[in-house]
Amino acid sequence: MSGIVEVNGLTKLFGDLVAVDHVEFSIAQGEIFGLLGPNGAGKTTTISMISGLLEPTGGDVLVDGHSVRTEPRAVKRKLGVVPQEVALYPTLTARENLQFWGRMYGLRGKELSSAVDEALELAGLADRARERIEKYSGGMKRRINIAAGILHHPKVLLMDEPTVGIDPQSRNHILEQVKGLRGSGMTVLYTSHYMEEVEFLCDRVAIVDHGKVIAMGTLEELRKLVGDADIVRIGVDETLAEESLVAVRAVPGVIQAERADSVLEALAADGGGALAGIISALNAAGEKVHSAEVVEPNLESVFLHLTGKSLRD
Ligand SMILES: Nc1ncnc2c1ncn2[C@@H]1O[C@H](COP(=O)(O)OP(=O)(O)O)[C@@H](O)[C@H]1O
Ligand SMILES: [Mg+2]
Repeated sequence: MSGIVEVNGLTKLFGDLVAVDHVEFSIAQGEIFGLLGPNGAGKTTTISMISGLLEPTGGDVLVDGHSVRTEPRAVKRKLGVVPQEVALYPTLTARENLQFWGRMYGLRGKELSSAVDEALELAGLADRARERIEKYSGGMKRRINIAAGILHHPKVLLMDEPTVGIDPQSRNHILEQVKGLRGSGMTVLYTSHYMEEVEFLCDRVAIVDHGKVIAMGTLEELRKLVGDADIVRIGVDETLAEESLVAVRAVPGVIQAERADSVLEALAADGGGALAGIISALNAAGEKVHSAEVVEPNLESVFLHLTGKSLRD
């Protein structure tokens, strides 16, 4: 069974750096597929090769049966792209920006104006359509950026971290917007380094790190990779010493431990059982403990389990 997007052995070198390393995945029609990985994992490079913006060093991508290498124009017609950087003209209004993009996709006349109306409605910004983009908040710009990517009803939408750096309200709006797209039968490739978003949205997920797919499957399949382990999440000082982390790793039952900002996360076979040991190890090391909780395995714990690193930056 072949998917609407088939990524085969996709590879990109920048000099000596292997940014994307033999990546393989297949996305079924109508699926929301997540590409989850930390900054620098190769998500944008992958998306750019699928959309034809970057030439692969190796491998190929088929979109609805067309090769991005040999039939780039046919591939482009099937795709909508929401880039990581907002691509809008600040001095034009939201409507004018969407009209511009619509024309780029070959829409004209009535078809164009109804596509623009529909996209504004979906972005929840129909009433602000006459305002210049420069007056928009970051979140509103992102919503229009997404609207621009779906004007021409693409079969497949590529979204590159569409919620980075925006307010929670716009973020929720965007997540609902993407869920709504699935209802309309669109296929979505969604990249993010936020595991909550990917958990909320995606039918299947590929976890990427250093250009490689390190795990792939449904949320349930991925959670099973961690077995029955729990995550113990401890609020600590950002100045937590490396030796304290080593002490936590030595607590019986602790499989892995990592700190990101002011959160220490430990993977433990029995989180409740290991909790007391972790807290006393931290106390003995002279570290402050601000909060503590035991949570069920999630994509964050899968990532920690597979890489020994935290997904957050
Ligand atoms: N044009 C480029 N030239 C050289 N290195 C690049 C270029 N684009 C990306 N990289 C490098 O490739 C790796 C993957 O980058 P990227 O695909 O942007 O990751 P992500 O989107 O997951 O944060 C990083 O190490 C990045 O520094
Ligand atoms: Mg990126």
